[in-house]
Amino acid sequence: MTTSLIINKKRYEVELEGHETLLEVLRDKLGLTGTKTSCNESECGACTVNINKKAILSCITLAKDVEGVEVTTIEGLSDGENLHPVQQSFLDCGAAQCGFCIPGMIMSCNALLENNLNPTQEEMNYALDGNICRCTGYLKIFEAIELAAGRIKEHKHTVDSADHLVKEKQPKVLSQK
Ligand code: FES
Ligand code: FES
Repeated sequence: MTTSLIINKKRYEVELEGHETLLEVLRDKLGLTGTKTSCNESECGACTVNINKKAILSCITLAKDVEGVEVTTIEGLSDGENLHPVQQSFLDCGAAQCGFCIPGMIMSCNALLENNLNPTQEEMNYALDGNICRCTGYLKIFEAIELAAGRIKEHKHTVDSADHLVKEKQPKVLSQK
């Protein structure tokens, strides 16, 4: 069965057996190995991707069920030149050790910040509840979320101010009788 998948804004026509998970298709058919396989049974969060601003476990999602839906993986976060603020903040805070869990962590954090740029500690705990890290304490990860939230807010403020200036410079159209 040929299925149309939209991954990181790119459309793929993929031959599916029907039972394949999104994780299997991402890694084995599309070569998008940034999304990690670990428990394969919804326990660790390593396979997290984003769909409709939500963190989704790709190991328990059938690929056929996301036909035509936009999926974002860790590879789709950066713009190609610059890291996404969440990625950059993880780097700057030293929030990774071996790095294996980090793509899933980042996708969970991204989903959180897509919906809420002022998360409380409780909301951060909840967002990362399903993401397990064997190496590190979670403190630096929480610091990275706060840093990323600040950077995204700053960026939005800059863009909004620039838009405002452009509008002000537009010549006013005088009403004519
Ligand atoms: S591999 Fe999907 S939750 Fe562990
Ligand atoms: S950084 Fe090693 S498992 Fe999280």
